[in-house]
Amino acid sequence: MDSTALLTLDDKQLTLPVIVGSENEKAIDVRALRDKTGYITFDEGYGNTGSCQSSITYIDGEKGILRYRGYPIEQLAEQSNFIEVAYLIIHGELPTLEQRKQFSTMLTESSAIHSGMEHLFENFPADGHPMAILSAMINSLGCYYPHLATNDHERDVATYYETAAQIISKVRSLAAYSYRSSRGLPFIFPRRDLPYCENFLHMMFSEPYHQYVAKPEVAAALNLFLLLHADHEQNCSTSTVRMVASSGANLFASTAAGVCALWGPLHGGANMAVIEMLKSIHAEGDDGTKFVEQAKNGKADRRLMGFGHRVYKNYDPRAKIIKQSFYSALSALKIKDDPLLNIAMHLEEAALKDDYFLSRRLYPNVDFYSGLIMRAIGIPENMFTVMFAIGRMPGWIANWKEVASNPKGRINRPRQIYTGPVTRNFVPIDQRR
Ligand code: ACO
Repeated sequence: MDSTALLTLDDKQLTLPVIVGSENEKAIDVRALRDKTGYITFDEGYGNTGSCQSSITYIDGEKGILRYRGYPIEQLAEQSNFIEVAYLIIHGELPTLEQRKQFSTMLTESSAIHSGMEHLFENFPADGHPMAILSAMINSLGCYYPHLATNDHERDVATYYETAAQIISKVRSLAAYSYRSSRGLPFIFPRRDLPYCENFLHMMFSEPYHQYVAKPEVAAALNLFLLLHADHEQNCSTSTVRMVASSGANLFASTAAGVCALWGPLHGGANMAVIEMLKSIHAEGDDGTKFVEQAKNGKADRRLMGFGHRVYKNYDPRAKIIKQSFYSALSALKIKDDPLLNIAMHLEEAALKDDYFLSRRLYPNVDFYSGLIMRAIGIPENMFTVMFAIGRMPGWIANWKEVASNPKGRINRPRQIYTGPVTRNFVPIDQRR
């Protein structure tokens, strides 16, 4: 039997339908609320609000479950790779061998950057932040591929797979170029013979006179990092992409907005914050013991970065997976006795047996290890969030498609509770005090 919710407001009663998801998630459907009662719901931060129905990613934060299109993250991490997972998220199904080859060919053919765009890079200030450059460049792809960016959802959905391949491939080249331009280094062109992650590392670290060859463990760690970040339900940046898409905006513009939303320290910037925290602990001559005590006092500037999560109230499943790959990358790179690493391990050990963290269900999140992995690979700190953006791109793209192809879709337009002055008469300037 369909369940309903009964709402009593003033002297009226309203029966509200209940929507049930495929994993038995339940929501009270309040779409008729304002029309029928004049009330709206209030949920600052949207912690209790379902903004959409989506078939891409399922998370159970209490149980530490993450699945893309129904597949457990653990299975994908062990048996698949970033590009196959990108295909899965964008297309909805795992590719056949033939589809996988076609997708790879599309990515290879889309990797070059238009020479006009190369000139754009020259005009950013030398110390311009790579996230600002990345967002601007993704948006400007719409100028170079106007047939893929018509702002007519029907036409943009018809070219969706082509646009998706362009973005997945180009974001890697644009990211590497934004790093090299911020260092005043010459651009290194993508190679047709290299897989996705190896090609990215080549564009980042090769020089015209020296070829960078990625160690397999390093490429594998990067692959895993991207795979684990490929989608994460209705987080801040994904909701931003959907919001922008709801106005009819094209896929380039919508994903460029996602990059901006990810930039903030409370979202994509957390992995960098972990490294900054470790550096400041090291500079203070602490091994982490003092910091853990201070973090327990609840001071915002002494939070244990990389611990806790808005959704996961159990071990972040991505953190468990990335931790293993982290150690094999470290041994391939022969990194031992890194003082920041020692502090990180000490913090983790101390927090995992401390009642303060256990009772609040604060466990390491994916950012605790991903910053350390990026650092070990040699990715500079201001590129950490860019790496996250490359990884999250499949999720943003698939969420755009859900919005753009929803025949009943409406522009997203929340309401508010107004708390400003009530009506008052305009005062001419000579009478104001
Ligand atoms: N260190 C110390 N104490 C913490 C931490 C932490 N990292 N996180 C939460 N707490 C404490 C709070 O002080 C609070 O204590 P109280 O009950 O005594 O007041 C309690 O735990 C609950 O904290 P909330 O802020 O309500 O938890 P919320 O779920 O809203 O926040 C958040 C989650 C923002 C991720 C938080 O845990 C945090 O700031 N962590 C550090 C930053 C971080 O790693 N962010 C990355 C998240 S993952 C991602 O975005 C990809």
